[in-house]
Amino acid sequence: MNPILRVNCVCKSFQQGNQCVEVLRDLSIQAEKGEKIAILGPSGCGKSTLLSLLAGLDNPDTGTVEIDGMDLAKQSEDDRSQIRSEKLGIVFQQYHLMRNLNAVENVGLPLEILGATDFPDLARNALEDVGLGHRAAHFPSEMSGGECQRVAIARALINRPPLVLADEPSGNLDQKTGVEVMDLLFNLCNEFNITLLLVTHNRDLAERCDRALLLKDGALAEFNS
Ligand SMILES: Nc1ncnc2c1ncn2[C@@H]1O[C@H](COP(=O)(O)OP(=O)(O)OP(=O)(O)O)[C@@H](O)[C@H]1O
Ligand SMILES: [Mg+2]
Repeated sequence: MNPILRVNCVCKSFQQGNQCVEVLRDLSIQAEKGEKIAILGPSGCGKSTLLSLLAGLDNPDTGTVEIDGMDLAKQSEDDRSQIRSEKLGIVFQQYHLMRNLNAVENVGLPLEILGATDFPDLARNALEDVGLGHRAAHFPSEMSGGECQRVAIARALINRPPLVLADEPSGNLDQKTGVEVMDLLFNLCNEFNITLLLVTHNRDLAERCDRALLLKDGALAEFNS
């Protein structure tokens, strides 16, 4: 069986003015079903760059990113979007909710995009699963940061994707709310055997994962705390 994620010798550079900055250099990683992997590393080392390659939002200069055996760079833009919709959930530090949609509409959006007709009921259930049934009609501006992040988690998991990418999901929250939000994310990933790639600066969170990796000099190495 294919691993859910296989990254092979990925390189990525950016042109900054007349300088070429090499961010990822021969980076490889593989993740198995249900595995939780923390990725640590200093600001600017390339963690978010890596996640955007894994999500197929950007292409590596060389090397391959395979999701469930499919090489993202070899797909058409439409097929890449389809893979993203079916296989991936993404949680960002800044929530990235649609401001003009209420909580239940935000959560149902991925299903609506996939053409499901029962998305309002499923979205309402998913919102209840994250303890926010009473906030269904609220817009993001009417909710706290912790509530917005719980909506974002419900949205990321509503399709039951096999792989969730999370970029500092508790980075914007106070410690107590952050722990509650992370408990929720870990519990849902356990319940549905979802593979989680978690970018974090928090060593306690990293210790809750099956393994922790340090992004350093453009590649991943085992993190020893
Ligand atoms: N589109 C881009 N164009 C030019 N340079 C970029 C681009 N995206 C990222 N970079 C550069 O790549 C490097 C890595 O950025 P990235 O956002 O991946 O870091 P990070 O590890 O996520 O940092 P943080 O912990 O602060 O979020 C930085 O030097 C950044 O300036
Ligand atoms: Mg980042």
